Amino acid sequence: MKKDFLAVADYSPSEVQELLNLAVRLKQEHQNGGNAPLLKGKVLGMIFQKPSLRTRVSFDMGMRHLGGDALYLSPSEVGLGQRESIADVSRVLSGYVDGIMARVFAHDHILQLAQWSSIPVINGLSDYNHPCQAMADALTIQEEFGNLKGLNVTYVGDGNNVAVSLMHICAKLGANFTIANPADYDMFSPAVDLAKEIAFDSGAKLTFLRDPHTAVKDAHVIYTDTWTSMGQEAESKKRELVFPPYQVNDQLVSEARNDVIVLHCLPAHRGQEITDAVADGEHSRLFPQAHNRLHAQKAILVHLLQ
Ligand code: CP
Ligand code: NVA
Repeated sequence: MKKDFLAVADYSPSEVQELLNLAVRLKQEHQNGGNAPLLKGKVLGMIFQKPSLRTRVSFDMGMRHLGGDALYLSPSEVGLGQRESIADVSRVLSGYVDGIMARVFAHDHILQLAQWSSIPVINGLSDYNHPCQAMADALTIQEEFGNLKGLNVTYVGDGNNVAVSLMHICAKLGANFTIANPADYDMFSPAVDLAKEIAFDSGAKLTFLRDPHTAVKDAHVIYTDTWTSMGQEAESKKRELVFPPYQVNDQLVSEARNDVIVLHCLPAHRGQEITDAVADGEHSRLFPQAHNRLHAQKAILVHLLQ
């Protein structure tokens, strides 16, 4: 049966850890100057309904490192669900390429792509989650602290797609996950229910707060993301009034552990959810985190396409 990568929650803790171990090996291999052509001749079709820097370039370069290739398919070209039905796009692409990576608005669209394709589908971000980002996040945290078990990971800001995948990977790997977000910006409640089930098995503690200052106490990791995600632009003015108390700035970082690291999936809106001083300061791991997208996704690609 073909495999997909649609959500961290679909993978067992040991499968997630194996993917991270593979990412570590592939990263070392790359840094030592030798990428084994594990996907020689394979091609990834990349459907984008939204803009991207990291996802597009890291998947493209990842395929090249592995001896394969990638095709960028723009929103206007494909017209997913508009020019053509998702089921038809999926079945057509299945005869041309070896895997599909898609960035979509509605999560249901990624599920439909996976349902109709005979080749692996990778979720490159939906309105619900961002699992490839979470893999890179876990890799970055693991590089800093050895592993995630027992760490305190605090997300400050909007309970969005990035927060959901981060919560799920923390719950899988036994990290305590805390979120501080404004009222009316809670995470999607079925995602929280799922995290509670996952955390029951791993022993991870989940905490849901409004106050960012309480949330960052004892944090090993502070994570934030944009206050306005792609597709929510009409709400940005309203959000800019609500979210300033959730800014990750020097004061907030000083209230966490001394060895806290700060993560952000990027793109950052400097001066809003994160200050320049924090983004460029000693606790920031923003750029290693972005670079880890490449290595984490190469592991996913090898797992699915080899
Ligand atoms: N973090 C992330 O997914 O970045 P892009 O939107 O640039 O791909
Ligand atoms: N939450 C952001 C993440 C961007 C990578 C968005 O969906 O726009």
